[in-house]
Amino acid sequence: MVPTIEWKDGIVRMLDQTKLPLEVTFFDCSTYQEVATGIKELIIRGAPAIGVAAAMGVALGAQKVETDDFAEFYSQVEKICAHIGSTRPTAVNLFWAIERMKQFILSNKEKPVAVIKKALIDESNKVLKEDIEANKAMGRHGSQFIKNGNTILTHCNAGALATGGYGTALGVIRAAKEEGKDINVFADETRPVLQGARLTAWELMEDDIPVTLITDNMAGWFMKKGMIDLCIVGADRIARNGDTANKIGTYSVAVLAHRHGIPFYVAAPVSTIDFNIPSGDSIPIEERNPMEVTHVFGKTQIAPKGVKVANPAFDVTPAELITAIITEKGAFKPGEISRLAVVSSKQKQEVRSQKSEENLPPLEKGD
Ligand code: MRU
Repeated sequence: MVPTIEWKDGIVRMLDQTKLPLEVTFFDCSTYQEVATGIKELIIRGAPAIGVAAAMGVALGAQKVETDDFAEFYSQVEKICAHIGSTRPTAVNLFWAIERMKQFILSNKEKPVAVIKKALIDESNKVLKEDIEANKAMGRHGSQFIKNGNTILTHCNAGALATGGYGTALGVIRAAKEEGKDINVFADETRPVLQGARLTAWELMEDDIPVTLITDNMAGWFMKKGMIDLCIVGADRIARNGDTANKIGTYSVAVLAHRHGIPFYVAAPVSTIDFNIPSGDSIPIEERNPMEVTHVFGKTQIAPKGVKVANPAFDVTPAELITAIITEKGAFKPGEISRLAVVSSKQKQEVRSQKSEENLPPLEKGD
């Protein structure tokens, strides 16, 4: 697969996902403002990929801050962070990555600004590398839920394109395939932006994983006919109680799965869990341009001019409808993920003190 995002010769290169699957082209960012545009305009999208882009955007912006004074440098970087942080409100990885970059700077404040600037590039590449490693670990923990011969329904795109690489939901599916299991995927097209039709179908076909594309309103029918064995989706933000925000339409899939007794899994890294919020009620939901609903790709009009439109980009699936949340630390019942907060806060300390993971408390499997 072509890399979703990379730091290349002083620029941040994004695979332009608005052009897929018809064209494989790149959006090269030489300023942090361009990185912010890339995130806002969905050139790069998917919670973990947005996090990587944010980290690289901060590093890119920091290179152009011209001062040797730490206080001045940090204040300029805070402005860069605020600009990147204003792009999309729901995916918590955006804010997680910005916070990580800020903490990195503060923990190196005694070093010369020039040294910190260079180290920020390495740190953003580390965010990318760790994301890919987390996805592979998620794959190892999650593939146990996929049996030989299973058909898996997924919604939106939670694949290599939505992450640093390999994918969360599609990472679990990739891992099952790599273990030699004979599997099939049903991909919801995912109206209105069609991440399922344009991206998931493309990505799975590139990897020779059998995929059947369906429109969103077909999912219930295929479940009723006994053709879906399990559902796996990604997440944009998971609250402390396991309530999960993901692409609009995920909640409907979860309700349908519950009605038909089909397991419903969420695959996401720990960086997608927002331990600061008690439930999904506190998750901000992005409202996007009505043109995404009234037009196809901003070109062909499919609804009467002037019609009232609602276009929330995400919905929240209550924890009670989720069978397990698959993370890089193992699979957990939704009600158990608050235990991961210990790991998360410890990891934050590690960023500061560079301690190893051996000291972390052991975690049991949630299922
Ligand atoms: O609006 P998008 O395309 O950024 O929404 C993406 C999703 O909802 C994904 O399912 C989610 O971010 C998980 S990606 C591993």
